[in-house]
Amino acid sequence: MNFKLRTDRLFLRLVQDCDAEPAFDILHSHPDITRFMTFNPPKKVDDTLQFFRESRLHCPEKGVVWALFLEEKFIGLVSLESITRMLGVWKMDRAELGYWLDPSFHGQGIMTEAASEVMRFGFEHLNLHKIICGHVSENIASQKVIEKLGFRFLSERKEHFFRFGQWWNHKNYEIIKDEFESS
Ligand SMILES: CC(C)(COP(=O)(O)OP(=O)(O)OC[C@H]1O[C@@H](n2cnc3c(N)ncnc32)[C@H](O)[C@@H]1OP(=O)(O)O)[C@@H](O)C(=O)NCCC(=O)NCCS
Repeated sequence: MNFKLRTDRLFLRLVQDCDAEPAFDILHSHPDITRFMTFNPPKKVDDTLQFFRESRLHCPEKGVVWALFLEEKFIGLVSLESITRMLGVWKMDRAELGYWLDPSFHGQGIMTEAASEVMRFGFEHLNLHKIICGHVSENIASQKVIEKLGFRFLSERKEHFFRFGQWWNHKNYEIIKDEFESS
């Protein structure tokens, strides 16, 4: 399968070992990126490398992680993770969208453009039926991206997880193939 994707401004391909260093540099120098994510900033480049290698091991059965480039510069990651084909006898064909972007490039519509292409690929080539997504309620930038991508709001889960000494609310969304194609 060819995982290379292009948009007007961006290029995406599967993460490779050579992306670990630029990814680590961004996360290490901007630890706030992970504030609303499920992981802490990596302490050493090897942590990032291990994550990339692990993701490739299970690609595309369990998930796909793309490196994102603007004018050949690595600027972030976009992923379709937790791919679930079956739950018992139920056919699911579902994945969860995730992303982060170098703060130097925030606010230019870059993640909306990248994630939209990844979703198109997921529906057309990974045969997904549904993509789910969520954000910590305070993460307004991510909320805006999710809304611009056409996701349907489902619910806000109160005190969904504990971190940094407090409980956080979490909003979750979904979109099915037909909704994406007609948006
Ligand atoms: C979420 C993230 C990827 C957005 O990337 P981006 O390329 O800047 O997104 P876009 O430019 O497409 O859209 C962001 C929108 O949020 C707005 N925004 C950003 N920060 C904001 C804030 N604190 N309050 C209100 N609006 C905000 C931007 O102005 C933009 O609005 P617009 O569509 O009206 O122009 C980026 O902020 C990021 O990497 N955050 C850290 C990682 C993260 O939280 N990932 C998601 C986990 S669910």
